[in-house]
Amino acid sequence: MKATSDWKQMKKEGEKITMVTAYDYPSAKQSESAGMDTLLVGDSLGMTVLGYDSTVQVTMDDMIHHAKAVRRGAPDTYIVVDMPFGTYHANVDDSVRNVLDLYQATDANAIKLEGAGGIDIIRRAVQAGVPVVAHLGLTPQSVGVTGFKMQASDEAAAMQLIQDAKAVEAAGASMLVLEAIPSDLAEKVTSVLEIPTIGIGAGVNVDGQVLVYHDVLQYGTERLPKFVRPYADFNTAGVQGLSSYAAAVKAGEFPDEATTYKRKVFEE
Ligand code: KIV
Ligand code: NA
Repeated sequence: MKATSDWKQMKKEGEKITMVTAYDYPSAKQSESAGMDTLLVGDSLGMTVLGYDSTVQVTMDDMIHHAKAVRRGAPDTYIVVDMPFGTYHANVDDSVRNVLDLYQATDANAIKLEGAGGIDIIRRAVQAGVPVVAHLGLTPQSVGVTGFKMQASDEAAAMQLIQDAKAVEAAGASMLVLEAIPSDLAEKVTSVLEIPTIGIGAGVNVDGQVLVYHDVLQYGTERLPKFVRPYADFNTAGVQGLSSYAAAVKAGEFPDEATTYKRKVFEE
């Protein structure tokens, strides 16, 4: 399993970091088998597996429930777990308490927080021994304010993002997710930091990539964001498989000899 100290080393050596989201036992198991460097139990689970239209409704209990299943499916993979909406903004003490609780309850390797508003929370969590991953650019918990679109598209916003990136690094973050920002800005941020940047919709000149499991495999998805390239089609395979099963039941072709217990219990 990777350790937090490996991330900077991989960046230094120019080895790209692979990350994908996982939300349950089978997705974690597959990702570990595929040799992913790290998994993210993203609060995107609100949309991908719970059917909400944003991540805002996701609770601490939801994150714990899913993260524990991911840990069972990927016992030997570095796992990052998202802090859900509303659990790290009210005040620093409660926020730090919540970070510690989520880390402890899930057996995660790191906790991820969106935005640059929580610099003190990052510093104190790291001091308390919790590796922290930061997340800048499009931060989906704020879509009510920002919308689901590219962020930092003008120079002032880009300069602010660079300042925020330096601040999260100085506070002790060990990785930085950059979501939906122009690729030249992502490249610049990557060059000024020692910690690796993990891009999602941030171009190729970053230190690693993360995508949502359900997007990579087209599983329950209808429309993919511009920055996704799918690598399998679970939607088609799943509907075909289920239709074939239903048709076989209707036709009386399932179950057959091979799928039936044949021990006789009644006399003729
Ligand atoms: O929840 C999530 O899936 C994420 C990634 C998009 C980085 O935070
Ligand atoms: Na997230």
